[in-house]
Amino acid sequence: MSQAEGVNVKRRRVLIASTAAIGAAGVAAVATPFVRSWYPSAKAEAAGAAVVQDVSSVEEGQMIVVKYRGKPIFVVKRTEEMLATLESVTPLLLDPDSDASLQPEYTKNQGRSIEPGLLVVEGVCTHLGCAPNYRPDVGAADLGGNDWYGGFFCPCHGSKYDIAGRVYSGVPAPLNLPVPDYSISGTILTVGEA
Ligand code: FES
Repeated sequence: MSQAEGVNVKRRRVLIASTAAIGAAGVAAVATPFVRSWYPSAKAEAAGAAVVQDVSSVEEGQMIVVKYRGKPIFVVKRTEEMLATLESVTPLLLDPDSDASLQPEYTKNQGRSIEPGLLVVEGVCTHLGCAPNYRPDVGAADLGGNDWYGGFFCPCHGSKYDIAGRVYSGVPAPLNLPVPDYSISGTILTVGEA
């Protein structure tokens, strides 16, 4: 085998291994596109300039991720079924009313949002800062079966959040996922501006 062939075989093995690992980890792997937003210049972004995103193409139940101040912002178009879980999951949550949560006053409601159908939260675990996975699959056996109403799961140390980013009791994370300042005008979401 030539040296080039050897490298190719090795590379193929690595790719296959990566694919298998992703398949195993992504039990409910949900395609989560990092979307291209209307980003400000690097200088303006450093100063905290707002990021604008048209959410008209986001499908029901889908999550996209936009970047704001270097952080991932999870944007989920919630379905009626998802909204219906917000009440049922309450007894399992540490801070269901978001009393200790970092979030704007105008999102102090059960769904922690301006519009019930659109969730906007920071995708940064409040334990040690890992990025939680989007796991909308209600009843997932690996996340507690009947006690899992769909939401976000942090693979680092097992913290769980509901579909409003509210943290479950008995997990390492101490707080709900923060909600950034944002506004919505029609289908235009502006993160970083109330
Ligand atoms: S960083 Fe998320 S559970 Fe520890």
